[in-house]
Amino acid sequence: MYQPPVLINREACTACGICGKVCMFSIIISDESGSPGLNPHAPPCSRCGHCIVFCPSSAIQLSGFGERQIVPVLSEKPVTPDQIKTLVTSRRSTRQYLKKVIPREVFENLFDIVRYAPSAMNLQTVHWQVIYDTSIVGSVGSAIISWMNRMIEEQRLHEFAIGSSFPYITREWEKGRDLITHGAPHLLMTYSGASDPTAPTDAIIATSYLELTSMAYGLGTCWAGIIKRAAEWSPEVRSVMDLPEGTIPQTVLLIGYPALRHYAIPPREPARIRWNG
Ligand SMILES: Cc1cc2nc3c(=O)[nH]c(=O)nc-3n(C[C@H](O)[C@H](O)[C@H](O)COP(=O)(O)O)c2cc1C
Ligand code: SF4
Ligand code: SF4
Repeated sequence: MYQPPVLINREACTACGICGKVCMFSIIISDESGSPGLNPHAPPCSRCGHCIVFCPSSAIQLSGFGERQIVPVLSEKPVTPDQIKTLVTSRRSTRQYLKKVIPREVFENLFDIVRYAPSAMNLQTVHWQVIYDTSIVGSVGSAIISWMNRMIEEQRLHEFAIGSSFPYITREWEKGRDLITHGAPHLLMTYSGASDPTAPTDAIIATSYLELTSMAYGLGTCWAGIIKRAAEWSPEVRSVMDLPEGTIPQTVLLIGYPALRHYAIPPREPARIRWNG
């Protein structure tokens, strides 16, 4: 019979009943006195950790987390509304980069933060591929231009949302203007296994988190849908990016130190909202 991975320290437990309330899958159920018990008929535990972190008495552990620490929450309100508004509204796509590499420790810090992004059923499907070597980023650009030229020759531009721009992009490339990687020093890609149905959404969320988090490190980013599309279609592009066999590219983000600063926030459409009730 399925054994939930939850360990309850009965001596520390005060029978407050909170763990039974926060466990969405009723793996932990509380009796009338609030005392928790395990439900062997519940669906599998998602290892979301809510039972651990909502317990006021630190009375719950999950087996299998090994030495990974439970980190205390430092502040109930880590940022003010004005701070988060400034962060989100001042983010812009960066298409001019300094020729300066990002230290690996900065990437490690970013990934360490972003792994806390939500994922469907807490499956944490996201894998990151870092194209750290700037010359390989350049090779990705060249491989995509070759692929675009082939698509132009084969008259297949209608198969791509921005196919009509391929002739312009390739002509600009000939003039020395890179509209694929924009001269970014590094490229990040998320990828997943072929059979992860939740991976596309998880990857988009993680990439958005990374994009915003990177601003705190003075970095600029730009989503690169065209690179993702090319990696889906072209074995040559995949090969330059060294994507693991059998995986699916999900998102691509160019990243580096911005060469230009912006002075204002551009206008956007008002939020489209339907209130129900
Ligand atoms: C694409 C996506 C779909 C989700 N759908 C649901 C849902 O239908 N119901 C729900 O309660 N939580 C849903 N979640 C929340 C996840 O279960 C949650 O992010 C995950 O268990 C990790 O917990 P955390 O957000 O507290 O870190 C969803 C999350 C994502 C990213
Ligand atoms: S939340 Fe903690 S203290 Fe409260 S019932 Fe569950 S294990 Fe016991
Ligand atoms: S980790 Fe999440 S799903 Fe598993 S028992 Fe705790 S609250 Fe329930």
